[in-house]
Amino acid sequence: MPEASANIGVVGLAVMGSNLARNLASREGNTVAIFNRSYEKTQGVLDAHPEAGFIPASTYEEFAASLQKPRTAIIMVKAGAGTDAVIQALTEVFEPGDIIVDGGNAYFPDTIRREKAVRETGINFVGAGISGGEEGALLGPSIMPGGSDESWVTLGPILKSIAAVAEGEPCVTHIGHDGAGHFVKMVHNGIEYADMQLIAEAYDLIRRGTGKSPAEIAEIFAEWNKGELESYLIEITAEVLRQVDASTGKPLVDVILDQAGAKGTGAWTVQTALSLGVPVSGIAEATFARSLSSHPEQRAVAVNLPGPDDAFAVTDHDAFIEDVRLALYASKIVAYSQGFDEIRAGAAEYGWNIDLGAVSKIWRGGCIIRAQFLNRIADAYAENADLPVLMTAPYFADAIAGSQASWRRVVVAAATAGIPAPAFSSSLSYYDGIRADRLPAALVQGQRDFFGAHTYKRIDKEGTFHTLWSGDRTEIEAEDTH
Ligand code: 6PG
Repeated sequence: MPEASANIGVVGLAVMGSNLARNLASREGNTVAIFNRSYEKTQGVLDAHPEAGFIPASTYEEFAASLQKPRTAIIMVKAGAGTDAVIQALTEVFEPGDIIVDGGNAYFPDTIRREKAVRETGINFVGAGISGGEEGALLGPSIMPGGSDESWVTLGPILKSIAAVAEGEPCVTHIGHDGAGHFVKMVHNGIEYADMQLIAEAYDLIRRGTGKSPAEIAEIFAEWNKGELESYLIEITAEVLRQVDASTGKPLVDVILDQAGAKGTGAWTVQTALSLGVPVSGIAEATFARSLSSHPEQRAVAVNLPGPDDAFAVTDHDAFIEDVRLALYASKIVAYSQGFDEIRAGAAEYGWNIDLGAVSKIWRGGCIIRAQFLNRIADAYAENADLPVLMTAPYFADAIAGSQASWRRVVVAAATAGIPAPAFSSSLSYYDGIRADRLPAALVQGQRDFFGAHTYKRIDKEGTFHTLWSGDRTEIEAEDTH
């Protein structure tokens, strides 16, 4: 059996796992044990990266023996049944006090279940969201670990050694207990969906409204990336729009099939928000936009449905492009505001103590939604940790005040032109809803009371009421059935 010389181990050596192992091995003080179900993959990693000084294991027993105590292993396998199999195998060779980390995109209720089960063996289980894709895993991801305080003592320094760094700080923090890390990663992905959909809608509106080519629009995004919209997603959008397809000579974006895939994290974010009663309209519309795009059988027949008579033609291109930029920024503020609302609601529901400011700080680098804008969110939560609505922070309220005219013009233009802009328009409706001093929900309450005697409150006195709609229509005090 090998001697216990590694301070960290990685199980699962596909691209993400091997890149994370290489990142760990490249940092001062780390010796990395590696294991993969097929040793052939392990051998391939050893041969490709001799400089990493990996400690290979061909069995779980060898893997455990090569790890110093408390043994600490990061599982990097596709979320699902494979994760449970690896957890089971590790619990058989680990001891109380050791640490098992799931670095996959696990669904947070699964992590809560797993943490509870593994904790009964005395072993620590940590669900850690790792964002930044393959490049991030190698060079520095944003890492969102949950798990026990005890596990953080050992795991924290190791994760800090590999995380991205933003404003001099590692993009990792102990998010909270059990499933908190995977919950926050899930919301990160939901915000990612919204961000991507908003960018796609901005592109579509400019393309259709001005007739500019993808390459020309790429330069617009590159310019936007120098200002308040600076972000990884804006940066890569310019790259994707610049790309020319080798086989046709056309812009690549024009030969890509317009049906968007989704591995599920956006749907989880929306389903969870619905159960928590948190409106995440931008994230939801982005998720549904992917679903809509992936129903070719419906689109093939609906394509003949009538649209507006007039062609969409923008006269002042520069003014419209600036309107779209401001609408994108305002809608992005809404998406992040909603995402942080969901994290706060999840923390309250599951008993996690999540520092929203710390979350915004670790998203400044390494992750897919990394953006200069997250510094402003961190500032807002530093100013007021209990900010009830992120959008009301002075910086964001001012930003929206300066954008809303453009935002409204863009939503009107899209609707008039028959161009789908679900994320832009739902974000604007959310903004107008959350700031409305009176909502038509009053009528909904009246309707509910009429057909279901579901009762209602009044604005002018305490109590719960019901109107005898099928009788003399008098109002009576009623039991609160909410
Ligand atoms: C990240 C990414 C990563 C993965 C997405 C893809 O944070 O590094 O979000 O988790 O690329 O899960 O998700 P979809 O396939 O659902 O877009």
